[in-house]
Amino acid sequence: MSFNIPLEDNIGKLVMPENLSIGMMVARQHKKCQEIGCEFDYYGFAFGQSPFPVPDALQKSLSENSHAGHYSDSAGINDLREAVAGFNLKHFALDISPERIIVGPGTKTIIFMIFSIVKANVIIPSPSWIGYSPLVKFLGKEPLSFPLSPENDYKIDPGELDSFLNKRSGHDLLVLNNPNNPTGVVYKRDELKQITEICRKHGTLVLSDEIYALTTYELENFHSMGAIYPEGTFVTNGLSKDRSAGGYRLGTCVLPEQTTSKLKDSFIKLAASLYSNVTTPIQLAAINAYQENPRMEEYFHITRNIHRIMGKNLSEKCNQIEGLKATVPAGGFYFLLDFNQLGDKLREKGIISSDELAPALLAHPYHIATVTGRSVFVAPTNFSARISFVDYDGKAAYQDYKTNPQENKAEEEKFLAKHGAHMLSGLNDLKEFVAHLME
Ligand SMILES: Cc1ncc(COP(=O)(O)O)c(C=O)c1O
Repeated sequence: MSFNIPLEDNIGKLVMPENLSIGMMVARQHKKCQEIGCEFDYYGFAFGQSPFPVPDALQKSLSENSHAGHYSDSAGINDLREAVAGFNLKHFALDISPERIIVGPGTKTIIFMIFSIVKANVIIPSPSWIGYSPLVKFLGKEPLSFPLSPENDYKIDPGELDSFLNKRSGHDLLVLNNPNNPTGVVYKRDELKQITEICRKHGTLVLSDEIYALTTYELENFHSMGAIYPEGTFVTNGLSKDRSAGGYRLGTCVLPEQTTSKLKDSFIKLAASLYSNVTTPIQLAAINAYQENPRMEEYFHITRNIHRIMGKNLSEKCNQIEGLKATVPAGGFYFLLDFNQLGDKLREKGIISSDELAPALLAHPYHIATVTGRSVFVAPTNFSARISFVDYDGKAAYQDYKTNPQENKAEEEKFLAKHGAHMLSGLNDLKEFVAHLME
């Protein structure tokens, strides 16, 4: 006899994140091609995973801490929170007490906790990272979409934000992701100040997702919203992107200045009820990843430069394809590719909505894996695709850059040709996709 197990309505509001499912499919095909050969391989522009090895010091520290089987502090162990505070001061000019730091099992969970605890409507810019809106919906709230325009480099325009907030009542929480996934844009200090003025005026809180901060190509261009709007900002970050340790599942949150004990206790209560603590050996290992360490600085330097070479060059090449328009990233490992000039041609081929663009690009003979449509939180009429430029052997690229730093554009082109050959082939197939539309 089989039970008909009833499911809660809210679980139906979650969809399997498309980037993860496509990412797994691409990884399986890459493996098959390497092991037994294959007729075709996918171009993995969908999944946003750092391609580099976890820093040696972090790996070593994890193996040294495997004995730590005890439960630990739900907010995060003290030594780790102190190390995170020191790291925030050094890198982001965020002078905060460790008391304002919460450590959680990945940034995603931390973001979910903020949405769960703060009684506010969540404003999500469009386009945005795939992760925010399902979590808001799961909590029974409806996210408010704030449209961004290419004319404004897909940044939040303070005047438009002001008009948007003028029409609102009640408490709002604005999601700001800087550097941005999917566009790669990085906000200037003045732009953050202007957004702050508007948020102060309306009493709007900000969730500043800064998980790509240390991948900003010209690091001096990154400014943390936590330092500009300290009283109203939750800053989230973690080990997943700049230290290539997504699977370690460790994220951090800096709570707003003058956080009440009620707010902090709410995080601790929820953490204790949901997962007790972040895996103790991971927390102990992570202390190492947050402490002052020249080898870690070298790691950040090399990896951000490789991201820059890949991102700038590939987006430039996309911009040379007639009918396409790519953002030029200034941080992170994504850019947004706009197919809207080809809208009529796409519709003629039966690609009616942006959700159908990704399957069309993935289909034979193109095999280009991307995420589009609702997975980048855009309207069905907006034919834009997120391109993630991490489909290469990060270990080989890292070693090569370390022994042979790239000095100029010509050397970078050679580096791209050597390490990004598979992605360059993907762009050739993209050209063919566009040419086929034009026929
Ligand atoms: C913008 C953004 N925020 C948060 C996350 C989640 O990070 P974590 O692996 O720490 O949960 C991601 C992961 O892709 C992301 O791109």
